Amino acid sequence: MLTCDFLVIGSGIAGLSFALEAAAHGEVIVVTKRAREESNTKYAQGGIAAVLDKDDSFEKHVNDTLVAGAGMSHPRAVELCVREAPDRIRMLQSYGAHFDLAQGAAHADESSPRPPPPSSPSGTPELDLHLEGGHSARRIVHTGDMTGREVERALVLAVSSAKNIRVLDEHMAIDLITLAKYGGPEVCAGAYVFDVAHGKVEKVLARATVLATGGAGKVYLYTTNPDVATGDGVAMAFRAGAEVANMEFYQFHPTCLFHPQAKNFLISEALRGEGAILRRLDGTPFMKEYDPRMELAPRDIVARAIDHEMKRSGAEHVLLDITHKDPAFIKEHFPGIHAQCMGYGIDITTQPIPVVPAAHYLCGGITTDLDGRTTIPGLWAIGECAHTGLHGANRLASNSLLEGMVFAHMAAQALASIERAKPWPDVPDWDVGEAVPSDEAVVITQNWDELRRLMWNYVGIVRSDKRLRRAARRIALLQEEIAEYYWTYFLTRDLLELRNIATVAQLVVECAAARRESRGLHFTIDHAETDPKMARDMVVKRGVPAHLVPGGSAGAERGP
Ligand code: FAD
Ligand code: SIN
Repeated sequence: MLTCDFLVIGSGIAGLSFALEAAAHGEVIVVTKRAREESNTKYAQGGIAAVLDKDDSFEKHVNDTLVAGAGMSHPRAVELCVREAPDRIRMLQSYGAHFDLAQGAAHADESSPRPPPPSSPSGTPELDLHLEGGHSARRIVHTGDMTGREVERALVLAVSSAKNIRVLDEHMAIDLITLAKYGGPEVCAGAYVFDVAHGKVEKVLARATVLATGGAGKVYLYTTNPDVATGDGVAMAFRAGAEVANMEFYQFHPTCLFHPQAKNFLISEALRGEGAILRRLDGTPFMKEYDPRMELAPRDIVARAIDHEMKRSGAEHVLLDITHKDPAFIKEHFPGIHAQCMGYGIDITTQPIPVVPAAHYLCGGITTDLDGRTTIPGLWAIGECAHTGLHGANRLASNSLLEGMVFAHMAAQALASIERAKPWPDVPDWDVGEAVPSDEAVVITQNWDELRRLMWNYVGIVRSDKRLRRAARRIALLQEEIAEYYWTYFLTRDLLELRNIATVAQLVVECAAARRESRGLHFTIDHAETDPKMARDMVVKRGVPAHLVPGGSAGAERGP
């Protein structure tokens, strides 16, 4: 048995930044199911939204977020994130993250001197700010087009040398420990954690358990997300009885590279921000036929336009063209995308890029208040796995890394004076029961593939009542098989992840079927209009079917 003050599950921007702040108040254990840097965070390209330009304002950032959220963002969560953003950027810099400086900045590795960078009123060099779709001003702080890699590098380094923080790589949380299950109060007291290398399950008891498990892109066949994004936190919280909200709002990124050898490579929104044009295969631009904001319309609109173009023409992809920009500009601003595409034989300075939409971001998640508290005492949720109310029905680009930082900070502050003297509760060790080694791993690969394919085909960018009903029936059958397998055979990471994506699929379908309107990321041909009466959060809990919150919103609005 392991004990700690704070058990953090996940090592992306949310988990690691929480750990760094919480370490000042107690002992932290971070468990992470692969190597510690593996996370959605590491692959983030565009950057982090923050008002830092004199021509920008908090009001504009708030308004852009609310517009993207299609009437569903919680105003208090939006205000909080927007106003906290500049401080959170400075905090990342204090952990050692380097962001691109405004033009004229001298880089450490440059031999030829350039004029000094412009300075902000505080005397610190100004940061270079990109523009992205849905933003009315330049406000995207970035490190080339590999912002996440730099942020994760800095956080991993800071955590690895921090006092009071122990990181357990290759440790996957299986389920939360809730005392109610053992006759106690409804409190979360830690988690059972699978030590992948040794094939054994540890009991980890904690004063506070913080889910920071990220997104669930792997629930869809095509995704921008890495393999770790299997919605484990949402599934664990749901099994434990926590409230989950708005799972129907799954964001599809409009532009993922279409290439037979590219598994999930994103082509950043920042390309469109810098002028890239979406074209049909014959070269004609098409976004003006869908939205006056054209390439800079919010993501749901651009993704649906591409989906419509592909379905209409039968094309396998559309084109994203930035060849009209100076090659030096392209290489300077998008070095990662340029190099990666070159590796696939595409020179983005002279050739348009074949792109398709792909599942990208989970806007819904575990309901929290403005401090990251879930509906179960002792259980907290931060980052992409949480539903804080910030994103509403559609997330504004580059608001997600920000949300992870802001709610990690809020949670760490709220937990600063956690009670540490109480004795540890008496909780049984993990019981392997009658389980035996599996001789039928093919069940996992088969079900994994079937589930992701049916989600793509029936619960994708455009939905219908009939498709959702079909999906629900098949998911229920798959869940039966998975449960049987789960209780019969020894655990593996693949099995645990399959069980979790099946739960996430169930929740997405259930929320989507209950939302009988189209709004933001949820579009259904059977209810194509937006219904003002449905501008409310859809909540679901174990044993309580998905329903709209009577008061309008779950979680954040209840916070302090
Ligand atoms: P993650 O960074 O995904 O971390 C989750 C962690 O939890 C991982 O370490 C994972 O291994 C671990 N984990 C999961 N389940 C378990 C378990 N059961 N047990 C133990 N550990 C577990 N957002 C922006 O704001 N700007 C961008 O430019 C941007 N670009 C993006 C580009 C790509 C390609 C992708 C995929 C996403 C992008 N996003 C961007 C979204 C953003 O990266 C994520 O929303 C954000 O990084 C989520 O951070 P997180 O800390 O919540 O989760
Ligand atoms: C991108 O770079 O396009 C991703 C930005 C985001 O998901 O916020």
